[in-house]
Amino acid sequence: MIVLWRITEVCNFGCAFCAYDRSLKRARRNGDPDEVMRFGRLLGDYAKATRTPLLLSWLGGEPLLWPPLFEISKGLRAEHALNISATTNGSTLHQKPTREAILSSFQELTVSVDGLEATHDAMRKFKSSWVRLRDGVTALLAEAKERALGFRVRANVVLTAHNLGEFQALCHMLADWGVSEITFNQLGGRDRPEYFPVNRLQGEHVRILRQMIAPLRAELASRGVRLCASDLYLDRLHASAHDQKLAVNDCAPGHGFLFIDEAGVVAPCSFTGHDYGVSTKDLRSVEDIAALPQMFAKARACKMMTVCNDCPSTQVFGKFAV
Ligand SMILES: C[S@@+](CC[C@H](N)C(=O)[O-])C[C@H]1O[C@@H](n2cnc3c(N)ncnc32)[C@H](O)[C@@H]1O
Repeated sequence: MIVLWRITEVCNFGCAFCAYDRSLKRARRNGDPDEVMRFGRLLGDYAKATRTPLLLSWLGGEPLLWPPLFEISKGLRAEHALNISATTNGSTLHQKPTREAILSSFQELTVSVDGLEATHDAMRKFKSSWVRLRDGVTALLAEAKERALGFRVRANVVLTAHNLGEFQALCHMLADWGVSEITFNQLGGRDRPEYFPVNRLQGEHVRILRQMIAPLRAELASRGVRLCASDLYLDRLHASAHDQKLAVNDCAPGHGFLFIDEAGVVAPCSFTGHDYGVSTKDLRSVEDIAALPQMFAKARACKMMTVCNDCPSTQVFGKFAV
């Protein structure tokens, strides 16, 4: 099971495509550390009782800026042997104590990187973000190797009309850094509709991407790097690029994937918390967690959310598959 937990809305980057862009005036909520620890422990109990391998993955905002992150991660790792990761902009990876904390509590880290140096820095609006990321990732992997840890770095790229042309070069650069897995999102337009029209992928871009994938995947595989994206995922991109809706009538909500937000709302994905979500505070036992799929299925049978008529949840379409 993968549990994606957005524990903060605070971010130090100014990405014009992102809901958490530091320049936006908006709520900047954080998780409640005691409740995060309590529910994290419960997830550990659930994993043990049901013999379910569980990856707890922190998201934000920028999760590495949330002060209790490493203490909680270390505690959950020590007490419950949970696998833990985070998705980060990499802005703190130049600090050795941060890398030490990552290596002693996480099994993997996903870094967001959107292009070669000039493109990445322009998209992220943070001085020297690319250099910091490169130096941080390579130092982290060297330190993991020294300690013989089976630690992995994955990279996630947001594809736009403007960075697609560098995607192949970027993938090879990530292989040079030692990244073991590469995933990508198409630029989504829900959060920043003003940025979307001129930057979005069009049908022609998705056609180019589709042609690119098989040979690029083979080249990267020969370098020990996995380029993810199922055929179904590329179909999702194709449909979006042509403004076609792709409904998902049954995503088996709550089976194998949960999303939790900074207010502690547990839902089948990041888009369905409002209608199907339940508070962590109402989940007190292993049985309560085991009952979530049934609860979500019931809620969905009563009312299918409009968003499900054009499902934007990347994991449903095999973003991480090959
Ligand atoms: C919201 S960020 C939070 C984590 C962290 N601050 C980071 O930059 O990795 C999580 C991921 O969503 C991606 N993302 C943000 N806005 C997006 C959008 N409009 N479309 C597609 N992906 C987006 C980011 O690039 C990042 O990989």
